[in-house]
Amino acid sequence: DSNGSTTLVIFGASGDLTRRKLVPALASLHSKGRLPLDLQILGVARSDMDDEQFRAILAEFLGSEGMTKPSPEQWAALSSRIHYLHGDVTSLQDLEAVKDKLASIEGNGGSHNRLYYLSLAPSLYRSAMSGLGESRMSEDFDGWRRLVVEKPFGTDLTSARELNDVAHSVFREDQVFRIDHYLGKETVQNLLVFRFANAIFEPLWNRNYIDHVQITVSETLKIDERGDYYDQTGVLRDMFQNHLLQLLTLVAMEPPHAFEAEALRNEKVKVLNAIRRIRPDDVGRHAIPGQYRTYRDESGVSPESDTATYAAVRLHVDNWRWQGVPFYLRSGKALRNKSTEIIIQFRSPPHMLFPLADDEDIPANTLAIFVQPDEGFHLEFQTKTPEAELQMRTAELEFHYHEAFSGQAIPDAYERLLLDALNGDASLFTRSDEIEQAWSIVDPIIEGFSLPTAPRPYYYSEGSWGPVEADRFMLTDGRAWLQAG
Ligand code: BG6
Repeated sequence: DSNGSTTLVIFGASGDLTRRKLVPALASLHSKGRLPLDLQILGVARSDMDDEQFRAILAEFLGSEGMTKPSPEQWAALSSRIHYLHGDVTSLQDLEAVKDKLASIEGNGGSHNRLYYLSLAPSLYRSAMSGLGESRMSEDFDGWRRLVVEKPFGTDLTSARELNDVAHSVFREDQVFRIDHYLGKETVQNLLVFRFANAIFEPLWNRNYIDHVQITVSETLKIDERGDYYDQTGVLRDMFQNHLLQLLTLVAMEPPHAFEAEALRNEKVKVLNAIRRIRPDDVGRHAIPGQYRTYRDESGVSPESDTATYAAVRLHVDNWRWQGVPFYLRSGKALRNKSTEIIIQFRSPPHMLFPLADDEDIPANTLAIFVQPDEGFHLEFQTKTPEAELQMRTAELEFHYHEAFSGQAIPDAYERLLLDALNGDASLFTRSDEIEQAWSIVDPIIEGFSLPTAPRPYYYSEGSWGPVEADRFMLTDGRAWLQAG
């Protein structure tokens, strides 16, 4: 029609991500009236299917985990705009067919906007991007063109740089949207609101008042059917390079001058820049690798695998605000709970007025930020026990999202990210320099773990909190992991 069109083109559309996340998120947005009504969706993949078969597959996961389920009428309306084309993104001939199909979907007149989503095996990213370039599908003279790339973006600094080079030979940086789905989580965005829309925390947010920071992303899941991928990847590439470092940057960054993609990402890159690099031969002092006991029996995993399914890492941010404040990061599979939390431990009071039992320390104030589940904040402080003469007890001030915004479900991260990409807002996507900085922090740790002199991964039992060596590691620093959740 003469108003033009917007089309989301999903390459690799027969994969899990499309069924489990992308389409349920689109349907959820649609059912809430938040999706542009003229959005067309074209799935491209190598499986042989027609539109009807494709739509039937997509119906399976609607309304799953955190997504709003569309009514049958709503789904009918949305799915009538979902199309499928059998094709291989690495074949220029097939891309010509995609162009023809797009021309028929888009019609004549108006501007034709396209969001290309690479939901492919990462080994195909390069040829997919060059293909889009060669077939001139990146040219944006008759509407915008944007590219969304799923993680992982590269497997180390060198490969990420190469991938960025290819991306930049086809698209401008402002057209490229690299996904880190943690940034789409409501509570992760709220971290910025918490820090910069309140006056009472920011004055304390520095080395004068904060003793250390802990960031935990624990999962109960094992690696399931992803053995082949995971054994080549390990927890540092799978979780630290992206999600944990992203959380760290949001905790540590300076206030940007505006809530806008470039300003925000400039500040995040400065934090990554300031992180002290760990030397590979020194990794044993700064990081603890772990592996859950039955990992080597998983399918796709080498029986001698030394891949870490758990890691605890101490990082330092060498700048004025954070000098001397360690950031302890840990993450692992097959742990006790599924939870993501950030704990800020403040310094102890400078002088103790109240009598304490022998070798008892007064617990320091902590602020726990729960990213998931039970999104919210807990602030711990000391109170006097009634009657008892100057006895103290730790009490908590709690804020829970589900109580404060009762009845309002927290949307899935993909809802926000898809909408932002359609609107051209890259604030919650990773910029090329950010990705490269993050790899340059993680690479030497991975290299260190593989040196013959490095510790082998310590075993831990499934359902535990990781290897005991990680507790000793904290103890050596005179600290302990805090379990707020
Ligand atoms: C993905 C990792 O990026 O994040 C997975 O590849 C991990 O291994 C997942 O399970 C965790 O995401 P969430 O949103 O469930 O915390």
